[in-house]
Amino acid sequence: MSHPLSPERLRLGVNIDHVATIRNARGGDHPDPVRAAQIVAAVGGDGITAHLREDRRHIRDEDLARIQAATNLPLNLEMAATDEMLAIALRHKPHAACIVPERREERTTEGGLDAAGQHNRLAPIVARLRDAGIRVSLFIAPEPAQIEAAMRLGAPVVELHTGEYAHAQGEQREIELRRLADMAALAAKNGIEPHAGHGLTYDNVQPIAAIPQIAELNIGHYLIGEAIFTGLDSAVRRMRDLMDEAR
Ligand code: PXP
Repeated sequence: MSHPLSPERLRLGVNIDHVATIRNARGGDHPDPVRAAQIVAAVGGDGITAHLREDRRHIRDEDLARIQAATNLPLNLEMAATDEMLAIALRHKPHAACIVPERREERTTEGGLDAAGQHNRLAPIVARLRDAGIRVSLFIAPEPAQIEAAMRLGAPVVELHTGEYAHAQGEQREIELRRLADMAALAAKNGIEPHAGHGLTYDNVQPIAAIPQIAELNIGHYLIGEAIFTGLDSAVRRMRDLMDEAR
């Protein structure tokens, strides 16, 4: 099964980290994130996203090759900008690598990468990943300075952090939505493919899916939570339907 990366279709990458979170709670093999990846592939998901965190709290090193072997879907590896993660990415050669900020004590990826402030740290990592044929994405706040930094770094993709939008209410949510739409347009105008993710749910996905330049959404925690009640196949299908309806 091949998955053409057509720009017209809004792609859905499913982040399966929290299947591994539940597995690790008991230390055994169940539930297996590989099985989740196979279900995502079977119901028409466009990619698998997995974050190998420095503390290995969910996805583990050995999961990566197993996930890659289990489906034809492109793997988007979320990684901190460290030498250790760079070596792992170069060994596994995922389709894409999304560079995220990481602090051990945080519960999830709380803010965007400071691509502007960390140019010198990021530049060699972006270059090595690109040279290896890995599509580099930078997970950034929707701010002009970060898009400009991504341009200077030569990143082909930015993933716009939708956390502020997801947490905001009322008028503030409209402001955050406008910011995301403006930054998606700015990225696209400068030849960078915009993606988006973090905190997306059935209730808040549609305004983001309607932003025409956005090519991919990466969604995890909510989908895995819904999967507990309705099954992962049904949760992915429902998210897919909502995205299509909004487009
Ligand atoms: N995109 C990136 C870069 C992330 O770090 C995360 C969270 O790991 C997601 C998307 C998915 O966010 P959520 O789990 O809130 O859907």
